[in-house]
Amino acid sequence: MTRTRRAYVETYGCQMNISDGELMEGILEARGYGIADRPEDADVILVNTCAIREHAEKRVLGRVGQLKGLKADNPDLVLGVTGCMAQRMGDDLARKAPWVDLVMGPDGYRSLPEALDRVRRGDVKSHETVVPAPSGRSKKRGPQLTVLDLDTGENYQGLEQRRTSDVAAWVPIQRGCDHRCTYCIVPYVRGPEKNRDPLEILGEVAGIAAGGVTEVTLLGQTVNSWVSGDWTFARLLRSVARVPGIRRVRFTSPHPNDLTEELVEVMAEEPAVCEQLHLPAQAGNDRTLKRMVRRYTVESFLEKVEMARKAIPDLSLSTDIIVAFPGETHEEFEDTLELMRTVRFDDAFTYKYSEREGTPATRLPRDQFVPDDVAQSRLERLIEVARGIQAEINAGEVGRVEEVLVEKEARDPGHLLGRTRRNKVVAFPGDLAHVGSYRTVALTSTTGATFAGEAVDAGRPGALTAVAGD
Ligand code: SAH
Ligand code: SF4
Ligand code: F3S
Repeated sequence: MTRTRRAYVETYGCQMNISDGELMEGILEARGYGIADRPEDADVILVNTCAIREHAEKRVLGRVGQLKGLKADNPDLVLGVTGCMAQRMGDDLARKAPWVDLVMGPDGYRSLPEALDRVRRGDVKSHETVVPAPSGRSKKRGPQLTVLDLDTGENYQGLEQRRTSDVAAWVPIQRGCDHRCTYCIVPYVRGPEKNRDPLEILGEVAGIAAGGVTEVTLLGQTVNSWVSGDWTFARLLRSVARVPGIRRVRFTSPHPNDLTEELVEVMAEEPAVCEQLHLPAQAGNDRTLKRMVRRYTVESFLEKVEMARKAIPDLSLSTDIIVAFPGETHEEFEDTLELMRTVRFDDAFTYKYSEREGTPATRLPRDQFVPDDVAQSRLERLIEVARGIQAEINAGEVGRVEEVLVEKEARDPGHLLGRTRRNKVVAFPGDLAHVGSYRTVALTSTTGATFAGEAVDAGRPGALTAVAGD
């Protein structure tokens, strides 16, 4: 009898990519693979990568170099690089890292088991080339396989992802992106928008709920532009929120332009939809937004914020901001700080512009590119303002009593970590048996970003038992 092969998947990047990592695990498990928790225990290692910023790619390249060492101990080990960076770099990655056996982009996963079999059999025609090793000696690269076709039909309908959390589940409803924000690599590595069928999505959510998981997050690059026949995203959200057993629904990332009255109404009306919205602004200046091709103005962004807050008064808002987009002047950067002060986001994910080869922004005049020291100081200033606002908001929330879904044990022994409906992280003393259940927690203090609290209910152990009674 042959031993079960084991795969280890290590994922970088956004929730969509994490969800893709679970998909690859699911596909391999369905073909008889076991899933390893450590690369050392695996026969197949897949590094599932992100290409959004240069920094993210450098980190992953370092990691892929590190994993090469495992091949010395296990010559049969198959090492693959998947995801957005694999798609972006393609054959170039195969050349730069000759010890990598498989390079596969985000639309290739359906054929992952076959690709691994081919690599193992050496049934690969491409890249049978000899490259000079750095020492000057010649080194034959093994047969490498690259799978890089973007498939406009592939939305992985019918395939099951392996869900690792008993508490919350990601549900991808859309792949790819139809926008062309001028800084962004995503449309090039993930192709055009592809939406999944609503009934299949609802069936999947029902299955998740039947397994005892009560929180789902719907995923897409512009999740609220999802549409299928006469189904709008708002209608889908309402239906997901009404699936028996589902207590919390979130979604990310919406595009501000597709935040409709109908969607905000559903958010306000459906008890399961959380009072939380991630609304990426990217910048607070019209000239910058125009050159980013975000297709909204500061004024229309603020109108969307106002519309959402009017419908959901206790809404928690987060955003993404890029500083030092090519051509951004100091005054234009100050406008972004002004937007932060006007909206007062509960949380902000802040980035320095990173040049991505092939994107339109790279063709802006070179002399407009912002020097790194200037970009760095803008980033630090933005973080200072965003953190200051966050700390003020959170200090004002100390004393509230909130429903917390317990996610895991905190670093502090005897403490648990969970999230409020408004997506705020709370640590409080409690027993591991409560992971997956809902507790009523008084927020007693804040570090600025997260909270400490005390449970004020008796608590009921275990997610699965708690759900059954609801
Ligand atoms: N689809 C999502 C964004 C996905 S990428 C949306 O439109 O909201 C996540 C974030 O990374 C973006 O919101 C943006 O703030 C940032 N980002 C994307 N490309 C970038 C680049 N080239 N340099 C710096 N940050 C970038
Ligand atoms: Fe990138 Fe813009 Fe698409 Fe978001 S909407 S993934 S930022 S191109
Ligand atoms: Fe990165 Fe790809 Fe997500 S580029 S942010 S992993 S879609």
